[in-house]
Amino acid sequence: MDLKLKNKVALVLAASKGLGRASALALSAEGAKVAICSRNADELKQTAAEIHKETGNPVIAIAADVSDAAQVLDLIHKTAATFGGIDILVNNGGGPPFAQFETFDDEAWQKAFELTLFAFARTGREVLPYMKKAGGGRIINIISGSVKAVLNNAVLSTAMRMGVVGMAKLMADELGPYQITVNNIAPGLILTDRVKEVLPKDIDHDQAIKERSKTIPARRIGKPEELGALVAFLASEQAAYISGTTIQVDGGASRGIF
Ligand SMILES: NC(=O)c1ccc[n+]([C@@H]2O[C@H](COP(=O)([O-])OP(=O)(O)OC[C@H]3O[C@@H](n4cnc5c(N)ncnc54)[C@H](OP(=O)(O)O)[C@@H]3O)[C@@H](O)[C@H]2O)c1
Repeated sequence: MDLKLKNKVALVLAASKGLGRASALALSAEGAKVAICSRNADELKQTAAEIHKETGNPVIAIAADVSDAAQVLDLIHKTAATFGGIDILVNNGGGPPFAQFETFDDEAWQKAFELTLFAFARTGREVLPYMKKAGGGRIINIISGSVKAVLNNAVLSTAMRMGVVGMAKLMADELGPYQITVNNIAPGLILTDRVKEVLPKDIDHDQAIKERSKTIPARRIGKPEELGALVAFLASEQAAYISGTTIQVDGGASRGIF
């Protein structure tokens, strides 16, 4: 299926590694012009070069912290200036820490808010003029399965990302008339550096993956490109009538019915 993404402009946040990288690669492979950001400029440049080498399509790297307003505004303006607009925004960022509710102080809550909820709101707001000018757009938020079922120690993720779910629903309502869709993707367990870090360290890595896989109906951990494929589809022309939803990519792992 041709997803009609050729020459569309996509801005993918937090994309030197993991799910962001996989999303950028999937969009670039479909012909989009892609801008990626993350904090480590060297790793980011290398990722941009790798994606370009694989797809042959333009990829620019602009180092930015997604929770820093000035850096994000600069990123958005540079992307639009380089490629002539912005059609697709993939909101993504580092995840908040895992621990019991009682352990998080005011600073931890504030930081989680800035990174996981407010950063998504700011970028969503700032790309709108470009999308409205283009006659449509796609906003795709990468959140977490923690919005669908209880995930141990994920209180910051759950609290902030439930906010993203609500915000996306309201944005979908207000932006529908502009042909701008807003959707969330809720990953379960997908093998990225972040997940490698949270697997138990007291057993062998392969054994830890095997053990964890037993709790997932698909009996394996997901691959980043499996989420990237959904990003590309939600960004496509064919997905124009899908908005305000949260779609899980979790091999059936969520124990919630709704
Ligand atoms: N993988 C999963 O199974 C899973 C499941 C549920 C939810 N998630 C969520 O999905 C998101 C991505 O996770 P991942 O597994 O892809 O993580 P990852 O492999 O650790 O990659 C994180 C990426 O985000 C960048 N980043 C982190 N903080 C940033 C910031 N403040 N500003 C800009 N870039 C930033 C990192 O680069 P720099 O460090 O250089 O900035 C890196 O490119 C996280 O929010 C995570 O909580 C993942």
